[in-house]
Amino acid sequence: MTSPTKGVGFRFAGVGAHLPEKIVTNDDLSKNMDTTHEWIFERTGIAQRHVGGSTSELATIACQRAMDRAGVGPDDIDQLLLATTSPDFICPGTAPAVAHNLGLDCGALDIQAACSGWVYGLVHANGLMLQGMNRILVAGAEALDQITDYTDRGTGILFGNGAGAAVVEPDPSGGGELLGFDLGAAGEFVRILYAEHGGVLQMDGKEVFRQAVKAINRSVTNALDRAGLTVADVDLILPHQANIRIVEAAWKKLGFSMEQTVMRLHETGNTSAASIPLVLDKALDDGRIAEGSIVVFVGFGAGMTWATTVHRWAGEVR
Ligand code: ACO
Repeated sequence: MTSPTKGVGFRFAGVGAHLPEKIVTNDDLSKNMDTTHEWIFERTGIAQRHVGGSTSELATIACQRAMDRAGVGPDDIDQLLLATTSPDFICPGTAPAVAHNLGLDCGALDIQAACSGWVYGLVHANGLMLQGMNRILVAGAEALDQITDYTDRGTGILFGNGAGAAVVEPDPSGGGELLGFDLGAAGEFVRILYAEHGGVLQMDGKEVFRQAVKAINRSVTNALDRAGLTVADVDLILPHQANIRIVEAAWKKLGFSMEQTVMRLHETGNTSAASIPLVLDKALDDGRIAEGSIVVFVGFGAGMTWATTVHRWAGEVR
């Protein structure tokens, strides 16, 4: 398969992220539910999560940081794609409010693909660039505290708020490219993780765990095949931050080592669509990405949905 961006290329001009100030630790949670820090940390890898702020507020800050890093202003953005599963309102979407806050004058829409949404956004941004757009803001933002019951020990231990964003643009030099991707959905699994209108997240944790490991394995394998690469070629793989044990189980099947990844789960909990751009921001801070690095993103979540992209990195390095 030829490269999905052949001819236009794909670079990450700037990446930004934001976490609200208020932190809820595992010990805080154990005051309202029958659990302990040790149980939560051992079973999930999570030590704390951030709460507070609305999705549009969190997204606006992360997007502004991404634009500042890219050195671009509101007139330079041709489209805003905002991945979220906790929009400010059922109607309208949250993206128009974020675009307004940023002073953008372009199309703006939400992507609802749960935890895979930001990676779906990258693939859709690539399509828009092939249609001639020059710069797309791809954000993931969540105020999951709005749909989480923090007294339910089955779900309340997992979720937190946050936002991340990237300004992406063509790279005619041919350095940066989207080399391969895989998108998928399996609606027969709607009821393993869902929230009804006005309700809170309900989850069959064991089944989510099982299906997530399978989906990651299949999706990463497909995307790498399409890119003509193997696990050994990958410099860094950044997964959705759901549960450290899901990542460890998937990496074991695929043959990745934990040294090929960066985790931020312990400080953020599961931030759904925001989790991958949040961990990307950390990977850049930690100097884990260089020009030419092969970087893989893999998202998986409610729907079920899954999404993988394989990039030869060009753009912001720190
Ligand atoms: N604290 C203490 N004990 C608990 C807690 C808790 N928070 N939750 C469950 N238990 C108890 C159970 O009651 C059970 O006790 P029992 O053996 O006496 O009946 C025991 O611990 C084991 O419970 P399980 O539900 O089997 O625990 P499991 O090992 O499956 O862990 C968990 C639960 C952490 C939710 C796990 O299933 C999981 O992480 N699943 C994946 C969910 C996920 O990542 N969702 C994210 C959203 S989707 C996405 O992003 C992919």
